[in-house]
Amino acid sequence: MKSRALLGLLSDGQIHSGESLAARLGVSRTAVWKQIKRAEDEGFSIETIRGKGYRLKTPVDLLDATEILGHLPPDIRSSVSLKVFDELDSTNAEIIRQRGSDNGAAVPVCLADHQTAGRGRRGRQWQSPRGENLYLSLGLTFRGGFSMLDGLSLVLGLAVAEALEKEGAKDIGLKWPNDLFLADAKLAGILVELQGELEEGVVQVVAGIGVNVHMTRGEGVGQAWTSLARAMPDNEWARNRLASSIIAGVLGAADVFADKGFVEFREQWQARDIFRDRSLKTAAGELRGKGGGVDEQGNYLIEVDGYQEKVRAGEISLRANS
Ligand code: BTN
Repeated sequence: MKSRALLGLLSDGQIHSGESLAARLGVSRTAVWKQIKRAEDEGFSIETIRGKGYRLKTPVDLLDATEILGHLPPDIRSSVSLKVFDELDSTNAEIIRQRGSDNGAAVPVCLADHQTAGRGRRGRQWQSPRGENLYLSLGLTFRGGFSMLDGLSLVLGLAVAEALEKEGAKDIGLKWPNDLFLADAKLAGILVELQGELEEGVVQVVAGIGVNVHMTRGEGVGQAWTSLARAMPDNEWARNRLASSIIAGVLGAADVFADKGFVEFREQWQARDIFRDRSLKTAAGELRGKGGGVDEQGNYLIEVDGYQEKVRAGEISLRANS
């Protein structure tokens, strides 16, 4: 975003004269005017108040690496390599690229203000409008082979739900395996991609997290959705704070998971299960029954005629008449 410095100054929502902006940016007043036009072209609404200056019509919530790092606990701050981009194809793709060129000890974490090819689960697209939401990926490494990853994606969903609640969200539910819901609308999604085995038993995973923060229009989303601002408009949602909480929460949970596995998280996951005791069917409709929670590996259990059937992967939906 070429107008980032200008927007940083205007982000307090106050009126700033052309003269003061020029002085603070170290440019001429004509250059300020050009930057205002460029910011408008980038989609920001700026009001020109005659004789006084400029003001942002709607507040912007800029991503800032220094701020994100500043909110992290020191031990986590020193363990991550954080990059913030104005635009990427996909933050998951970026982590995969970074790991190809650098196998450093730090945990790679990246965020983008906008994704041009955001990836969702099952090959779907993830709508990623500029400046509105969080698009965040972390490169995690686990020892013990692929089989120790059972339940990881559920743990990630739980960690993100807890992080958002620490920042003021309420009553976040989890839809198996790892969608975050508020009432019956999707708030956030997680895409876990297995990158491969680095050496015997050392597996690399990319955890991609998309959270709807300020989004008010969801053209093309294709399902009931919500955002933090839409559901809880009285809170001031700041993407940098939310990102720090999510990074700290996910890395903390990944450590416990590496040590103890899913079993340590099962009860907390069940407490947020939006399927529990509701009428369900699998996507292909071959199984219909009642939601029975998850087993110790994170498989979903559907109660059918007094038996429990395991669903290991794929989609489950609530029956229309539930
Ligand atoms: C889903 O379908 O529910 C998963 C959505 C995951 C979206 C996030 S946004 C950050 C990261 N980068 C991507 O391309 N996808 C994930």
